[in-house]
Amino acid sequence: MIEAVVDVLEERLRMRLSECKPKPLGLATGRTMRPLYKELVARLQSWPVPRLEKLLDNWCSFNLDEYVGLSASDSESFITYMTRYIGCPLKLSPDKLRVHNGRSGDPQREASSYREELRICGGVSIQILGLGVNGHLGFNEPPCGPDTSCRVVNLSPSTREQNAFAFHGNPDLVPTHAITLGLEEILSADEIHLIVSGKAKAEIVSSLLAQPVSDSLPASWLKQHPNVFLWADYSALSKVNRDWIGFNNIFGQLS
Ligand code: GLP
Repeated sequence: MIEAVVDVLEERLRMRLSECKPKPLGLATGRTMRPLYKELVARLQSWPVPRLEKLLDNWCSFNLDEYVGLSASDSESFITYMTRYIGCPLKLSPDKLRVHNGRSGDPQREASSYREELRICGGVSIQILGLGVNGHLGFNEPPCGPDTSCRVVNLSPSTREQNAFAFHGNPDLVPTHAITLGLEEILSADEIHLIVSGKAKAEIVSSLLAQPVSDSLPASWLKQHPNVFLWADYSALSKVNRDWIGFNNIFGQLS
């Protein structure tokens, strides 16, 4: 599945080479993205040098979210994650890889200026998303409507449990707040790729496909976007009724 997603992303990145100022990429973190970024970086490193240099010269990405209170000096922060998986291997200068400043003295103000910066850059072109076990996108916890914008949020017990793997397995060590792009910015992307893997996501993927759009399942708002791809492995699809996949053409692609 990862190879197939990277095939598409690599092609999209190649297409961007002809644009003089491409709109930003929207990037996510989490365990799902690690193999994807490793594969993507390996593919890009095999590009001819002038082509890769052009891509990196024009690189501009905005991450979805960051924990309040963490920064580049914290190993669990998302800026550290992005530097490790994308910034360092591609030798990108830090200003090209935008992540909210989790250590800002005024997180709500940081959220507003990040949103404004993204708006000035034209909004997101291709948005990559993972899925929370409670249906969150970024850190847009349920209930969450489509008009929410970049802001500070409380993290739910289920999300702190899901992300405890990075904090010695202890949910109490996971920060209580985060800054996240809202569904408004996410749904404004030109193209969205939702990537889901593993048995732990089987229940929520089944709900996502079966249930109507509602605030109680934030990812369900993707169904109203005209250009969404859902990429899921067999484990994540293990609780999906096959009939739904057959006739339910909600998503642009189900792989
Ligand atoms: C986290 C992040 C999301 C991420 C999702 C899935 O809480 N805020 O952006 O996509 O949950 O994470 P994982 O891939 O580790 O399951």
